[in-house]
Amino acid sequence: MPKDLATLDDDNHSGNPSIHDVSDPARRTVLHGSLGLMLGSLMAPLTLPACAASPAAQGLLGFRGVPPSRADAIVVPEGYVATPIAAWGEPVGVPGQMPAWKPDASNTAAEQAMQMGMHHDGLQFYPLDGSSTHGLLVMNHEYVDDGLLHHDGLKDWSAEKVRKAQAAHGLSVIELRLEAGRWQMVRPSRYARRVTASSPLDIAGPAAGHALMKTAADPQGRRVLGTLSNCASGMTPWGTYLSGEENFNGYFSAGALEDPHHRRWGLRRTSWSRWPEFDERFDATRHPHEPNRFGWIVELDPMDPTSTPVKRTALGRAAHEGAWVALTRDGRAVVYSGEDAAFEYIYKFVSRDKVAPGGAKANRTLLDHGTLHVARFDTEGRGRWLPLVHGQGPLTAAKGFADQGEVLIKARQASDALGATKMDRPEWLAIDPKNGWVYCSLTNNAARGTLGMPGPDPANPRAQNVMGQIIRWQEDGDFDGTGFRWNHLVLAGDPANERAEARGNVSGDAFGCPDGLSFDARGVLWIDTDMGPGAMHKGELARLGNNQMLACDVTTGEVRRFLVGPVGCEVTGGAFTPDGTTLFVNIQHPGESAGDSGDPTQPRRSSNWPDFAPGGRPRSATVVVRRRDGGVIGA
Ligand code: FEO
Ligand code: CA
Ligand code: CA
Ligand code: CA
Repeated sequence: MPKDLATLDDDNHSGNPSIHDVSDPARRTVLHGSLGLMLGSLMAPLTLPACAASPAAQGLLGFRGVPPSRADAIVVPEGYVATPIAAWGEPVGVPGQMPAWKPDASNTAAEQAMQMGMHHDGLQFYPLDGSSTHGLLVMNHEYVDDGLLHHDGLKDWSAEKVRKAQAAHGLSVIELRLEAGRWQMVRPSRYARRVTASSPLDIAGPAAGHALMKTAADPQGRRVLGTLSNCASGMTPWGTYLSGEENFNGYFSAGALEDPHHRRWGLRRTSWSRWPEFDERFDATRHPHEPNRFGWIVELDPMDPTSTPVKRTALGRAAHEGAWVALTRDGRAVVYSGEDAAFEYIYKFVSRDKVAPGGAKANRTLLDHGTLHVARFDTEGRGRWLPLVHGQGPLTAAKGFADQGEVLIKARQASDALGATKMDRPEWLAIDPKNGWVYCSLTNNAARGTLGMPGPDPANPRAQNVMGQIIRWQEDGDFDGTGFRWNHLVLAGDPANERAEARGNVSGDAFGCPDGLSFDARGVLWIDTDMGPGAMHKGELARLGNNQMLACDVTTGEVRRFLVGPVGCEVTGGAFTPDGTTLFVNIQHPGESAGDSGDPTQPRRSSNWPDFAPGGRPRSATVVVRRRDGGVIGA
């Protein structure tokens, strides 16, 4: 998401103190016992053949790093090949409904609803029958660039343009197969589907049917049209896909902003889209509860194309980046999520019930019952999970929380009241399959320490933090632990930056603004960057290059640059086949850095990746990375 859409509003942050002084060394324990076994089952889809593992003593990174690049191209190490696939506008493969992409962007809204959405973001690979050569790729389409989406760009808005924009948001499920050394989309496919900003979704969990979730169009408060701003993604051990609804606030207009609830959630007087003019449910002055129906984690069963995706309210409402699942030793689901907004929070949900054998159908209500917590990072490397439970502490009717549903709908206000730690924009999380440490990228927060804003704290130690950091923690005892110990993997930065506090402490290749995180089965942490022009100081682009993907050996801390994206993109996602020989990664918004052309009919074209047609429109796309020798990626 572009920085100007995701950064702080003055009235859109918590008022908690930043530095907490509570520490509880007595709770310090370590993960032990059957953790490895549990993680083995959690990560089973990623299990590698034994011969693929590299001895830790030799380091995990076996490739030669690439230099920074400003080319309008994908750069990968010697011995690797990167191939774009499934670009915006390609038909997803719904049988009988496969409209071809028109390079002049003249596809209709109805056609767009059967094609890959725009601005690919989080993605996950679901092997079919355990295969590493055949499976489903599920991904998010976070937002659109209307200048590129429509044939005549931003000129002459209409209901059809709004419908097309809505159709280009949401999720895609596509089927892929490796044939003759090349991954191809399988079309038609019985799995292929789109879920858009106007598809019906169910609402489940404690906030389903709540008064604050009811609208004129849905008096039951249990069925919503659409999912929006789908950013990062996680895969559950029972085979479903979790997607975070991130910057939903910007799609609504809220008039005079008299409602403090709307203000706390970053709604604006006017939407950054034109949707409220043509689809009145996005006018929050007329439909004040409609925004409450966004900001949830959406669960999708990719194996059943007839299934209705579900918004899981027990996981709390937030500008969710995404959600990632661990299992306790006794088989309960622990779902981590963060909220990518300045001075917002990190959450953990612990399910009441154990994961049942039988896949998605057997676990259709698993994420509807459990306890949500918010993180407080204390001094001395200690932290606590604070429960968001109605009736406990300040979360009472007298304090404005009528019931558990309201606690979840107003999770930001509840976290404010509990004194949680406000973070530097939590993006992706990832769980180390080797030892259960949980990692979270905190992408940046230029507002920290500025006038009227919270100052640095132990977990967010830099004022005017333009570079970001990666924090990590280990739970006391098991993933449901109420305490944890934490430290920083790295403070991102550029050693040549003019500001000492932006130089960071990276060991290896410099980078800024970590966003996507994913572990492979060998325990390599893959880091995607999303460094916008606004975050850079003079010379940063020349020194660090386009956004990129790096690999980190967390046992040594070494970071090595693996892939650089084309001009103006961000790199996001990172999913592997079970044998580790194919990496899928998304290139989002190539060409973004050019700015508006000044002519509303002419889209921005600083990049024409991946088609390279003269004057062609840049298209977000998935990149498939393979080794020429067929070996394990990164080894
Ligand atoms: Fe959509 Fe926080 O990136
Ligand atoms: Ca993004
Ligand atoms: Ca992101
Ligand atoms: Ca980002």
